Amino acid sequence: MRINLIGFGVIGKGFARALVRKRTWLREKYGFQPEVVSISDVTGTVVSEGGLDLEKTLSSVERTGRVIDCPGAEEMTGLEAIREVDADLVVEVTPTNVDTGEPGLSHMLTAMEAGKHVVTSNKGPLALEFKRLTETAKKNGVHLKFEASAGGAMPLINLANEILSGDEILSIKGILNGTTNYILTRMTKEGTGFESTLREAQELGIAETDPTYDISGSDTAAKLVILTNAIMGKNTTYRDVKIEGINRITPEAIALAKEDGYVIKLVGTVENGELEVAPKLVPMNHPLNVDGTLNVATFQTDLAGEITIVGTGAGAMETNSAILSDILSIFRNSRG
Ligand code: HSE
Repeated sequence: MRINLIGFGVIGKGFARALVRKRTWLREKYGFQPEVVSISDVTGTVVSEGGLDLEKTLSSVERTGRVIDCPGAEEMTGLEAIREVDADLVVEVTPTNVDTGEPGLSHMLTAMEAGKHVVTSNKGPLALEFKRLTETAKKNGVHLKFEASAGGAMPLINLANEILSGDEILSIKGILNGTTNYILTRMTKEGTGFESTLREAQELGIAETDPTYDISGSDTAAKLVILTNAIMGKNTTYRDVKIEGINRITPEAIALAKEDGYVIKLVGTVENGELEVAPKLVPMNHPLNVDGTLNVATFQTDLAGEITIVGTGAGAMETNSAILSDILSIFRNSRG
């Protein structure tokens, strides 16, 4: 399988590292031998029709931080790479933009119109144009997979749509943002300040390129929309979500909640057709009370009752667990 990799930040580099680390294992276990034939970031593209040497590309980008400085790199955009470099699948991991969805939206549409499968962790396009994207995939007979976009390593979409396919999912409630959960946990347990704790989350590589997306609740809202559409078969968009972030949570509010046996968590909920993101008081012994960068989601189902899954919602390797699982599923399906 030939892959165009679009985006070479934390997730894109993590993808390359995961392929290097698991190359032999993937071949021995699945007979899967992916070749990354192009890598693009905002500065340019490096191409090798026969497959790039990922270790060399990683080490040259680590030196300068830019793809354009790799030997042989061209001033070719990601969009041009999708159009011009022959491949079966596009891994789209550029930063999320929930205002326009770009550049990810154009990358995904162009890829699918060119007959390429798409695997992505990019929330913006899915939260704004879910129907258009899924219809484009269908029309062009390609797969569009996005397990990594909501809940990172937690297999929420596959769990609901594959393992629980006999159940109707009636509601979803969860903590879907690691950055805000980390900030709230540290403020609760150690009384740290907001700004310094946000910087720590950025150093962990889990905050968005623009961390206001995390703090304002936008990131949670985008993920809630993706889960609602993918799991409950709805056609909601980011604009349907009532959103309140953690900007106004004070150390005093956290201390008061603690005295009464509660923690404050940024919770996303879809219930009775309403989508909401807001800080909520969660009892300390409740399953939604997970610490640090952890995420959690509870599905209320018609047959199985409540199912709660806890896991890592961000991070270079963790997010690539979901990306790799989507790619392998496409690989298995396209082999028939
Ligand atoms: N900024 C996001 C988070 C990354 O903190 O959860 C994963 O989408």
